[in-house]
Amino acid sequence: MESLFEERRQGVESLLRSRLDAATGWPAGLAEAARYSLMAGGKRFRPLLAWCAAEALGEPPPRYGDLYVALECVHTYSLIHDDLPAMDDDDLRRGVPTCHVKFGEAAAILAGDGLLTWAFELLAAPEFAARFRAECLLAAIHLLARAAGNPGMVGGQYIDTCEPPPARELDLAGLHARKTGALIAASASIPAVLADSDLDKARALSAFGTALGLAFQVADDILNVVGDPRRMGKAVGSDERRGKLTYPALLGLDGARERLRDLVREAKRALGPFPPEGRRALEAMADYAADRAS
Ligand code: IPE
Ligand code: IPE
Ligand code: MG
Ligand code: MG
Repeated sequence: MESLFEERRQGVESLLRSRLDAATGWPAGLAEAARYSLMAGGKRFRPLLAWCAAEALGEPPPRYGDLYVALECVHTYSLIHDDLPAMDDDDLRRGVPTCHVKFGEAAAILAGDGLLTWAFELLAAPEFAARFRAECLLAAIHLLARAAGNPGMVGGQYIDTCEPPPARELDLAGLHARKTGALIAASASIPAVLADSDLDKARALSAFGTALGLAFQVADDILNVVGDPRRMGKAVGSDERRGKLTYPALLGLDGARERLRDLVREAKRALGPFPPEGRRALEAMADYAADRAS
């Protein structure tokens, strides 16, 4: 993915930087903590997915600039909070000390809160809103709120950290679909909602994102067992230490890899309504999700 998506990734990086530079009214220390975590690197998988979905729909990617920033802000907030002592208690993220290790717990909690809220501020801002029909923008914001909130990521994080581990694959898939899948599915779907695209294409992107979102967390589970912590910029082996049920724990490494391949095939199959050249970049993103854990 590195070379294929490098130009788009640079585009996302410069959007993030320019929106941070233009933000006003933030206390300096809070801005520093938010910028630290947001700009520490990361694959930018969710904004890239939205970018490629826009391309597949024949839309000009720059039209969606604030959406890419909003998706990465919601994701980065989730990482900051996921790493907190009350959650996974991790010290390393994106190759640098976690936000709470660097700035203290209160600042990290607030940096996360601020990034989440800012995401919705950006989407509701007049500059962005002027590009879309009002009902499309409202539907997109609703979709993102549900994906990030209690029915989606927050609900998944609650089940993952506050309930006993699920015992069956069906329940594990449900947990993964919420905590990681929902935001990835929303990243693929929201461009179709904003563009008011044909129903078959909107449904295709939603099905693609749902399968890919689950695949992404299966890959993360596998990498938590076999990944190189220097390359990933975060600790490995932590799922087992914490007694979490994961795909490798449930199906073994080979079984988890097979499930990952199935999910990626399912994701690609969903792209049927797009012409081959329209779906190429999305297929490459799906391949990337699988390849990094194989
Ligand atoms: C890590 O997400 C946490 C999960 C939801 C699996 P990423 O693997 O996308 O992390 P970054 O953004 O590249 O750091
Ligand atoms: C992270 O899941 C999911 C979210 C942040 C929503 P994990 O706790 O399994 O991911 P890592 O290993 O810390 O990145
Ligand atoms: Mg976690
Ligand atoms: Mg974690």
